[in-house]
Amino acid sequence: MNLKDLYIDFFVSKGHKQIPSAPVVPENDPSVLFNTAGMQPLIPYLMGQSHPYGTRLCDYQKCVRTNDLDIIGDSTHQTFFEMLGNWSLGDYFKSESIAWSFEFLTEVLHIPKERLAVTVYAGSATIPFDEESYNKWRELGIPDARIAKTVDDNFWIAGESGPCGPDTEIFYWRSDEEIPEVFDPEDNRWVEIWNNVFMQYYKDEDGGVTELPKKNVDTGMGVERTVSILEGVDDNYKSSIWSDVISLISDISGLPYEGNEKSMRIIADHIRTAVFISADPAGIKPSNTDQGYILRRLIRRAIRHARNLNIDIGSDWEQKIASIILNKYKKYYKELEDNESIVLEVLKTEKEKFGRTLEKGLKEFEKVTKNNQDITGEDAFHLYDTYGFPIELTIELASERNLKVDEVGFQEKFKKHQELSRTASQGKFKGGLAGNGEIETKYHTATHLLNAALKVVVGSDVHQKGSNITSERMRFDFSCDHKLSEEEKQKTEELVNSWIKEGLPVTVNEMSKEDAIASGAECMFIERYPDVVTVYSIGDVSHELCGGPHVKNTSVLGTFKIKKEEASSAGVRRIKAILEEDKK
Ligand code: ALA
Repeated sequence: MNLKDLYIDFFVSKGHKQIPSAPVVPENDPSVLFNTAGMQPLIPYLMGQSHPYGTRLCDYQKCVRTNDLDIIGDSTHQTFFEMLGNWSLGDYFKSESIAWSFEFLTEVLHIPKERLAVTVYAGSATIPFDEESYNKWRELGIPDARIAKTVDDNFWIAGESGPCGPDTEIFYWRSDEEIPEVFDPEDNRWVEIWNNVFMQYYKDEDGGVTELPKKNVDTGMGVERTVSILEGVDDNYKSSIWSDVISLISDISGLPYEGNEKSMRIIADHIRTAVFISADPAGIKPSNTDQGYILRRLIRRAIRHARNLNIDIGSDWEQKIASIILNKYKKYYKELEDNESIVLEVLKTEKEKFGRTLEKGLKEFEKVTKNNQDITGEDAFHLYDTYGFPIELTIELASERNLKVDEVGFQEKFKKHQELSRTASQGKFKGGLAGNGEIETKYHTATHLLNAALKVVVGSDVHQKGSNITSERMRFDFSCDHKLSEEEKQKTEELVNSWIKEGLPVTVNEMSKEDAIASGAECMFIERYPDVVTVYSIGDVSHELCGGPHVKNTSVLGTFKIKKEEASSAGVRRIKAILEEDKK
C-alpha cells in the first residue's frame, strides 16, 4: 500500500478526520507565494478558530519551496513535495502525538526501533526544557543516548511570526554502516523524517511571544524522503516516486540516468512542480511576476536541461512527462484531472514561446562570453528582454563556466525598463485607447478608494491584507475583527461613489521610501518595495505606495457596488465588488 494511504488510514483509526489538500497557491495569505508546509492553510485554526472537521485532522498537503530552486539537481532536493500531517486543535498533546508517531513508524512501516533517534527542545531563557517529550521517548524505549537535546533546531515557526512552539524531530539511520550508540544530529547518515511541533505560542511581528488560547500539535512528514528511506535508496530520484519519470526521460533522450543525473532530475522536478502550479485553481500562467515568474523559470530551466540531453525541443517530450505525472497523481488531487488540458497547454505554449528564442539566446550568450569575461548587467538584461532568459538561467549558464553576472546592474536596467513600460501604458490610457487592461486599471483605482473608505467608515486600523482583480470584479481583503453591518457596507459604498462623482484627480509622485512612509502613505509590504517608490494620490482622500497603473480621474469609474462581504481568515474580512458603467 502507498505511504499516503497508510498514513491517512492510521490517523483516521486514531479519531482524525482527513481534510483535503489546500491549493498550492494560498487562498487567503498574500504574504507567501506558495504553501510551504501542511500547517500553512491551517493557521487560522491553529490560532483558535474552530475547524468544521473538528479537533483531530490529518491530510497530505501539496507544498512548493522555491528557496531551493537553484540547487535542484542533487539527489535529495525538490521544489514540490507532499507533506503528511496530523493535527490536534486543542485536543491531544505531546504524549499521544509521540506515541502515535512511534506506533506508525514501528508497527505500520515496520522500521526497527534501533534505527530511530530523536531530538527534543533543550530549553532557553524564556521557554523551559521539553521534559514531557523527553520522558515519553524514554518510556517508549528510546535510549538516553539516542535522544539529543538541542535549542535552535527544536523550535518551529513558519517564517518570522505566527503560531510556534518546541518540537521533537525523529531521525532514521540511513546507512549500512554500524549504528553508533550515541546519536549525533549533525551526522548526515541520520536523516530527519518527521517533525512534531507542540504549538503553544504565538510570536507577533515585533517578536513578542504569547500563549495561544489552546495548545495544538502540528506534525509534518515528507513523502518523498520517507519513501526513499523505506525503499532503501540513497537518491530520492531512484525511488518509486520518480523511477517511471526518470526512465521516460531516459527513453526520450536515449541516454542513461547515470552520468546525466543533474539534468534529468531538474527536468523531472521542474515539470512536476509546473504541473501542480498550473493545475491549481488560482489559474497561474507563466509571467514575469510572482507565482507566474516561478512557473516560467521552472519551465524554461527544464527546457534548457532537455536541450542539454539533446532532446528535440519541438517534439512532445514535455507533454509525455507531464502526462505520466498527471496520471500518477490525479487520483489524489482532483484538480489535476479537471485541469489536465490547461496544464498541457501551459507547458506547450511556454515551450513554444521560449523555443523561438532559446537557440539565438544561447548564441548571444556565447558571443558575450567568448573571451571568458563576466556578464555585464546590460548583457544580462538583453538576454532577458530579447531572448526571454530569466536572470537565474543566465547566472546558471555563467556559473557552469565559472563566470559571474552583474546582478545589480541587471536589476537597475530592469527597474528602468519597468518604469518606462508603466509610463507607456499610462500614456496609452490617456490617449483614450481602449487598451488592454482598461477595466482592470479602473478596478485598481477603485481598490484604493475602497481601502480609504473603509478607514473612514470602519476605522483607521483597517489595513489591506490582499487584493485580486479580474476584468469582472475586484476582491479586497482587509484587517477587521467583525462582520460589517449593513449600515457600514452602505456607508462605504456611498463614500466611494461620492468620491467617484467628485471627479478626483489621480496623481503620481516618485519619492524615497522613507519620505513616502513619513508622509503617511498606505502600503502593504514595505520590505517588498525598492528604495525609490511611486505614491499614487487620489485627491486628498488616498495616498498609497503602488506601481500603478491608475485612471487619471475617478469620474470614469462608473458606479461602485459591494456584492459580498465575508470572512477570509482570522481577523481578515473580504469584500467582492464591481464597477457598473453609468448609463449615458
Ligand atoms: N510544520 C512543521 C514542519 O514543517 C511540522 O516541519
